[in-house]
Amino acid sequence: MKVTAEELLQKKRLGQRITVLTCYDYPTALWEDQVGVDVIFVGDSVGTNILGYTSERDVTMDDMIHHLRAVERGVSHAYLLVDMPYGSYRTPSEALANAKTMVEFGADGVKFEGADFAIASSLHAAGITVWGHLGLSPQLHEKRGLRAKTAAEALQLIEDSLELQDAGASFLIYEMIPEEVGKIASERLRIPTIGIGAGRYTDGQVQIIADLLGVNAFEFRHVFKYAHFQGTAVDAITRYAEDVRNGDFPRPQNVRHLRKHELLKLEAALEIEAG
Ligand code: KIV
Repeated sequence: MKVTAEELLQKKRLGQRITVLTCYDYPTALWEDQVGVDVIFVGDSVGTNILGYTSERDVTMDDMIHHLRAVERGVSHAYLLVDMPYGSYRTPSEALANAKTMVEFGADGVKFEGADFAIASSLHAAGITVWGHLGLSPQLHEKRGLRAKTAAEALQLIEDSLELQDAGASFLIYEMIPEEVGKIASERLRIPTIGIGAGRYTDGQVQIIADLLGVNAFEFRHVFKYAHFQGTAVDAITRYAEDVRNGDFPRPQNVRHLRKHELLKLEAALEIEAG
């Protein structure tokens, strides 16, 4: 059974935390789905984490669809969320056309950045589950770092959140805001909030899978590295390259042999040919 938006909402009502994790490929989707992550999220962070782009703004609809399709093949249980890339929702009608494409390719909900209430309501009116994203918005803000740092900015974020909720957003992601702001906003909203660098009191947490697995060397305060894939991968690749250079790979158990009598026949044939 697939996780539904209604079940996620119910989790908020019951005080159960929602688990969200980014995912960009099929094998990772299988792992995340297998352990029961609630929401598997194809974020536009695919650009900087997987595609080698320098900015989230370089990510295209084609990139998102390509990764959405790979992830979708690996998801049978989790709710599947996808990001709308930069430039794909400049107007409500453009947002709607692109969001419909995402849904056709298997997305259960779509996320866009910023306090654009017209977009939220046009997607909602078309029956698409909308996820908002406030606080730090990598597509919109050149400068990284904490948002809603003053009372006035925090108030604005709370007002924008309530307005997005009224416009039809079913979920909100908060990125890089003080814990106190995440807590107050989450208490005031009926819809679930999911935080990244937003403290402990949002209704759920989202992390970038590459950060959590230690695929990169970045050190962020809001990340706990549960694994160190970079070290493991570099070590394995180094040993492979050394083994090939030294003639230690393939090992005897990695090779297949011609049967003895076939080898004898081949050698005889070659001798005849050589005259
Ligand atoms: O693309 C992404 O990974 C995101 C998260 C930072 C929430 O939007």
